[in-house]
Amino acid sequence: MSTAITPIISIDRKARRPLHAQIYDGYRDAIVSGALHPGQRVPSTRGLATELGVSRIPVLGAYAQLTAEGYFESRTGAGTTVSLSLPDQSVLGQPRNGGFIRINELQRTVARHPNLPDSVANPPWRRGWGAFGVGQVAVDQFPFREWNRLVARHSRGASAKSLDYGHTMGLKDLREAVASYLRTARGVRCEAEQIMIVSGSQQALDISVRVLLEPGSRVWLEEPGYRYARHVFALNRCRVVPVPVDDEGFNVARGMKLCRKARAALVTPSHQYPLGATLSAARRLQLLDWAARSGSWILEDDYDSDYRYESMPIASLQGLDANSRVIYIGTFSKVLFPSLRLGYVVIPGDLVDRFQIVRLATDIGPATFSQAVLADFIGEGHFSRHIRRMRMLYRERRNVLVSSIEKEFGHRATVTGEKAGMHLCVVLDGVKDREIAARAAQAKLWLQPLSSSYMGKGALQGFILGFGSTRPSEMPSAVRKLKAILDAESR
Ligand SMILES: Cc1ncc(COP(=O)(O)O)c(C=O)c1O
Repeated sequence: MSTAITPIISIDRKARRPLHAQIYDGYRDAIVSGALHPGQRVPSTRGLATELGVSRIPVLGAYAQLTAEGYFESRTGAGTTVSLSLPDQSVLGQPRNGGFIRINELQRTVARHPNLPDSVANPPWRRGWGAFGVGQVAVDQFPFREWNRLVARHSRGASAKSLDYGHTMGLKDLREAVASYLRTARGVRCEAEQIMIVSGSQQALDISVRVLLEPGSRVWLEEPGYRYARHVFALNRCRVVPVPVDDEGFNVARGMKLCRKARAALVTPSHQYPLGATLSAARRLQLLDWAARSGSWILEDDYDSDYRYESMPIASLQGLDANSRVIYIGTFSKVLFPSLRLGYVVIPGDLVDRFQIVRLATDIGPATFSQAVLADFIGEGHFSRHIRRMRMLYRERRNVLVSSIEKEFGHRATVTGEKAGMHLCVVLDGVKDREIAARAAQAKLWLQPLSSSYMGKGALQGFILGFGSTRPSEMPSAVRKLKAILDAESR
């Protein structure tokens, strides 16, 4: 089947310029402007004639001319393509910048979001895969055989219904599977009707903020905290109030001192990101009490709580809430893999309609196909089996990492947050963590500087080390390499 795409060629039958010349002009302009690239296939003369509604003769004429002038070339079996020997667009006279023609920016205005970064950050430590990459899962341990079998089953059995728009709340089978898992494993109080399937926690947060908050609303965020969450509030023009965390997690009393009238708090109670504290029982009750009294919302980001190594997983904050003040957010990014882009929100029953309205105004819903595959993956027991296996596997990776850090760094380093999840923090005094992290990336170690999780002053220096994608056998040498980089830096 031809992969050729027809460029926009406008034909004017009343024009004095003959048809073959108009077709020639159309192609030449498309090539010179960069709309068609060297090597790109063009439609057959017959195909183009049909698309343009003209006879084949002017098309044959135009193609012959373009070939004679070197714009086209044809090879037997490969059809006709834009000539590979053509220079790139900059030589052809159209300066291009990543596919966009440069335009004087002063002539155009875009929306201003004062607290959003101006450009997409691509720091060195986010550019690779392997030792210490944060959020990286053990991909080689994923049960692809089972997953692929379900993918094949759903591809073969695609029905008209499965190809239509899905339900705004998500696929019913998946919502039921998620609800039953959350009730049992996370102590969440919910029914399937309250579960909305979303494209990851990031979207869950965005929809929740659009439903619950208004521009100017003040929101408590953990300091340090998950920086991408901060951007959601900036985008929705909320005002963030950084509230420090300590060994008991989010410091509610400090939040009340800093801004009692905040309309919401975003918290990671099971495993504070990135430092790793578990929100204490007293603080949980204090936070729920504050929300009930002040009419505020709690956004509970429960991103990696299935992996707990020294006790049972901690029950959700939502399960303790008697006033429907908690919006519970979860993701499959850690327990399965992040490119799946699937997560969920548990919505208080009376707000389900409002969430759906906002949802419909944005993207309607994630692909039904992956939801159906995931529903079966959970339903057939592969999900819980995978979590159980990964819990053991990550525990071992964590153990090796912690003992390697102790061996190499001794008392110089304080390890936090190692009781759960797929990352831990190493707090180190007197280092410049960003500089070290950039240097480490050159040596293919992908640790994140701890200070980048802070909004305000007084950042602790250290590193967030992911252990999900590193085999135990490779861990000690990766830690030694990190130590060598630090030693070289402090010399
Ligand atoms: C605190 C926190 N929340 C949520 C997520 C996951 O986000 P998503 O579901 O959008 O992949 C992460 C990922 O790293 C995280 O660190």
